[in-house]
Amino acid sequence: MLHSALINVMVKAARRAGRSLKRDLGEIENLQVSLKGPANFVTAADRRAEEMLYDDLTKARPGYGFIGEEGGTREGADKTNIWIVDPLDGTTNFLHGIPQFAISIGLQREGVMVAGLIYNPANDELYIAERGKGAFLNDQRIRVAARRKLNECVIACGLPHIGRGDHELSRREMTEMQERVAGLRRFGAASLDMAFVAAGRLDGYWERNLKPWDIAAGTIIVREAGGIVTGIDGNDSALTTGHVVCGNEFVQAELVKILKPLG
Ligand code: IPD
Ligand code: CA
Ligand code: CA
Repeated sequence: MLHSALINVMVKAARRAGRSLKRDLGEIENLQVSLKGPANFVTAADRRAEEMLYDDLTKARPGYGFIGEEGGTREGADKTNIWIVDPLDGTTNFLHGIPQFAISIGLQREGVMVAGLIYNPANDELYIAERGKGAFLNDQRIRVAARRKLNECVIACGLPHIGRGDHELSRREMTEMQERVAGLRRFGAASLDMAFVAAGRLDGYWERNLKPWDIAAGTIIVREAGGIVTGIDGNDSALTTGHVVCGNEFVQAELVKILKPLG
């Protein structure tokens, strides 16, 4: 399939960093049994992947700004284009050798997401989207699922772990959702949760307290797959608030109806 030059740049960068993460995943399996565990190793893998992405993306598009989870914001001469990158989304999964993690690259132009890529090197699934051109999984066009009844839907969410988020609120959300949906899932990589919504595997997804790099690429991929992405208010921006709700227009609206009064 023919991609734009921009998507080619993103794919090339993601595949190189992906090869590095995949090699590191193999090493982690050995480290699980050591007393020290693989934590420091994972931090190094994460940083290495981000530097590779930074090098490749800025070499191909000099001057673009770069916001990465590990290295923070690096301003570019071109103030209109900003890469928003999570080199390793799903760190806890990666640390435990669970193959549900991804590289996430979004490109924001004048405040609007114009391209996104999410790549899981463990299973070689590559999701891409460009504004107005649709969303793709390994070159196949993808669409959000069409279900309209929440009691037939499988919905993913995030769960705040120790020291993070509002646990009591999360439990109230669970209680409400459990009564209404066919299945709840917590996969542990926000980018892939959104990619799964785009691919119609999941009907919807919500999570609070995320960072722009968790959801930048997912936002455009879900939208280009025909879905709606908002904050919990239903008409606010997930990228600004850090709270995200997505699905087809019916599911997104139903989720907002349940979640909004709780927060
Ligand atoms: C995390 C994952 C996880 C979500 C966390 C994120 P990280 O990103 O996306 O699914 O629940 O809140 O911070 O730390 O693995 O890059
Ligand atoms: Ca992340
Ligand atoms: Ca990360």
